[in-house]
Amino acid sequence: MGKGSGYGKVIIFGEHFVVHGVPGIVSATDAKTDAEVKKSEKGLVINDERTGSKGYAEEKKIQQIESIQRMLKAMGMPADTAMSIWIGGNLPGFSGLGASAASSVAIARAISEEFGLKLSDERINEVAYEAEKAYAGNPSGIDNTAATYGGLMWFKKNTAGGPDLVEKITIKNPVEIVIGSTGKVANTKAMVEGVAERKKVNPKKYNPLFERAEEIAVEGRKALEAGDFKKVGALMNENHTLLQGIEVSSKELDLLVGIAIEQGAFGAKLTGGGGGGCMTALTPSEKLQEKVASAIEKEGFQVLRTKIGVKKI
Ligand code: MEV
Repeated sequence: MGKGSGYGKVIIFGEHFVVHGVPGIVSATDAKTDAEVKKSEKGLVINDERTGSKGYAEEKKIQQIESIQRMLKAMGMPADTAMSIWIGGNLPGFSGLGASAASSVAIARAISEEFGLKLSDERINEVAYEAEKAYAGNPSGIDNTAATYGGLMWFKKNTAGGPDLVEKITIKNPVEIVIGSTGKVANTKAMVEGVAERKKVNPKKYNPLFERAEEIAVEGRKALEAGDFKKVGALMNENHTLLQGIEVSSKELDLLVGIAIEQGAFGAKLTGGGGGGCMTALTPSEKLQEKVASAIEKEGFQVLRTKIGVKKI
C-alpha cells in the first residue's frame, strides 16, 4: 500500500488576484489530508472519510474523479489504472482551506509510492497542479504549492507559463489565527471564472483593485517579517474590502469577518475562493484566539484554531 499526505492552506493575502499574476501570501495549516492507495483488480474505488462541511465530499465527487484522471495522465499512467483510494486526515473539508489540493497531493504521493514512481516533490506539485484544474478551472498553483511544501510562502504565478516564483517567508514566532467556516460548499471554478469575466468587462473598476492588491501583498510581507501584526491585520481588512469589490464575498463571510473584528481580531478576511467557504482572522495570543473562536461558535459556525508561520508542520 502507498501512503501520502498534503497540507491544508490559508491564504493571508491575494486570493483571486494571484490567478492574474499578482503575488499572494499563503500559509500551510497544521491540519493535513492523508491518502492510501492500493492496486486492485478492476476499476477505481474511492473511500472518502474526511470530516467537515456536510456534503463537501459528495459535491466535489465529479471534480474528484476528473482530478484523479488528470493526475494519472500527468504521471504517464493508463486512465483505467485499477486502484482503491482511501482519503482521511484531520483537515476538515471546509471550502477555502485547500482541501482539494491537499487531497491531490496526498493521492499523488500515495500513487507514486504504490506504483514505485519515485516522484520528487517538484513533480508531485506539477501533478497536483494538473489535478487542481478539475476543481478551479484556471488555478494559480498557490494551493497545490502550499499543499506540497508546507510553511509560509510568497507566491507569484508566472502568467507567461514559466516557473512560478515561490519564496519562503520567515516570521519570528508562529501566530494564532482562527478560521471560521460558513458551512457552504463553494465552487472555486465558478468563482475564478466570474472574476475573470467581470475583470474583462469592467477594467475601469477592476484594474485599480488589482493594483492595490499587489501593494497590499508587498506591504503585508514586510509587516509579517517585521512582526507588525497590527499592520498585517489592517492590511487583511483592506484585502477583504478588495475581495468584496471583486464580488467574491458573501453575507455569511461578511458576518464572520464582523464577529471577528468585534471580538478584537487584528484583522479578518475571507480566505480561498469565497462565495461561501471560510474566513480567517488574525488573533495573536491564545486568549484572543479563544475569544474570537468561541464567539463564532456561539453563532453556530464551525471553527479551526491554528497558527501561521509554523516552521516545521
Ligand atoms: C483558491 O484557494 C484560491 C484562488 O485564488 C484560486 C487559485 O489561486 O487557484 C481563488
